[in-house]
Order: sequence, then structure tokens, then C-alpha cells
Amino acid sequence: MIELQNVTLTFPDGENRVTAVDNVTLRGRNGTVTGITGPSGSGKSSILAVAATLIRPDSGGVLIGNGSDTIDAAQLSKHEATELRRERIGIVFQQSNLLPALTAREQLQVMARLGGGTSRATRARIEARAEDLLDAVGLTQHADKRPHQLSGGQRQRVAIARGLVHDPEVLLVDEPTSALDQERGAEIMHLISRLAHERDTATLLVTHDLVHRETLDDLVTVVDGRVTTALTGRVPTR
Ligand SMILES: Nc1ncnc2c1ncn2[C@@H]1O[C@H](COP(=O)(O)OP(=O)(O)O)[C@@H](O)[C@H]1O
Ligand SMILES: [Mg+2]
Repeated sequence: MIELQNVTLTFPDGENRVTAVDNVTLRGRNGTVTGITGPSGSGKSSILAVAATLIRPDSGGVLIGNGSDTIDAAQLSKHEATELRRERIGIVFQQSNLLPALTAREQLQVMARLGGGTSRATRARIEARAEDLLDAVGLTQHADKRPHQLSGGQRQRVAIARGLVHDPEVLLVDEPTSALDQERGAEIMHLISRLAHERDTATLLVTHDLVHRETLDDLVTVVDGRVTTALTGRVPTR
């Protein structure tokens, strides 16, 4: 589970500060995808950055985990936050940020090795997990290709697989369909939904367009940094 509780985030703006996130409370349940929608500039990416522990909010909590295992990520030091991201959070940004020189398989292996041991058993486990994820996102046949040899949709699949390679409890995805046509976008949204359900991952997914809303379990709308509506349960298509 991930829960943002009364999160406020401001940025410096000349003499003043601009409020990007204004007292936001929202929850992502295990095994579901929670959509976060709203107009451009409404604070969606800022909410994800706080959830990802990449930016510390001015106030509020970021609860991650279940039961007695729950921690407030907003209270962690930089070093602790890095550890948390490495172990418990998967991040898929708008630009897939793949390394141009690496094949799809290597993108996953490099991520999986960060912080891991170097024993033969560990390496074997990492490699098995990378293969499993390449298969889960339908890229086994393209595993030896570099980013420039892959389509936009395939690159997005690599980024999603890479985000899941640590088997995180929380997956954060920013506008995964923005560079794709509608059909490719629908495939990516269904893929994320399937993976969240299969892996019991609490997924927060930012999207400004709702053509694929049937793949969302919950939906939160944000305007001017504030939550205006929060729907729980399968989102009606109209
Ligand atoms: N690093 C930053 N420095 C200053 N202002 C920022 C920064 N990031 C975002 N903002 C401001 O915060 C508001 C929300 O931005 P953002 O979270 O990117 O919105 P969205 O993702 O919904 O388009 C905007 O007014 C934006 O200009
Ligand atoms: Mg954004």
C-alpha cells in the first residue's frame, strides 16, 4: 500500500513560492492501479515525485507498506530514501530513460544488480528475474535489441519491466501512453493493469487523458494541486 497523507509541496517562485501540491491525501491499494488525472500543471508529476521520495514534501506523510511494516517515507534521510527506492519502489518516468548502449535484457540486469551481491547464486537469481519480466512484458524475442532498434511501445515495455525488476511493492508511472498511438497506449495500460494485479503491486499512474480509464481500479482527479474527486472501485467508462 502507498498512502499520501495531507501532502503539501511548494517550489520557489521569485520572491514567493508556488504551491504544486496542496494538502493531497490519496491511497494506492495493493494489486490495483490508481489513476491520477487532471489538467497540465495541476501537480500530477509533483505528486509522483513525492511518492517516489525524489522530493521531500513541505509537510505531510508518504506511508509505504502494510501493517506493522509501514514506514513514513517523507521522514527518511536521503540515504535511506535511496535504499527504499532500490528495494520497494519501481519508477517509470515519462521519458523511458533507457541507456542507449544496452540491450533490453541488460537494462534490466543493470538495475537488478544495483545494491545486490555478486555471488553466483545472486547473479543467477537476477538473471532469472530479468528473463521472467521480459517474458511478462512480451519482449523475449527482442531481448538483445538496443533502444534505437525498438519501437516506442517496446521501449515503454522495457521501462516497465525495469521498474519491476526488484519486485517492488509500489510502482509509480508518469504518462506512459503520451508518446504512443491509441492502440499501443491501450496495450501498455492493459499490461500495467495485469502486472499490478498479478504481482500485487500498488500502482499510481498519472495520465492526462482518460481514453483508457477502463484499465484503472481507482481514479483521483487533481486540479490546481488539490484532489477534487476520488473514485474507488472500477471506473465507469462514461
Ligand atoms: N522543479 C520545479 N520548480 C519550480 N516549479 C515547479 C517544479 N516542478 C513543477 N513545478 C510547478 O508545479 C506545478 C505542478 O507541476 P507538475 O507537477 O509538473 O504538473 P503536471 O504533472 O500535472 O503537469 C506547476 O505550476 C509547475 O510549474
Ligand atoms: Mg506531468
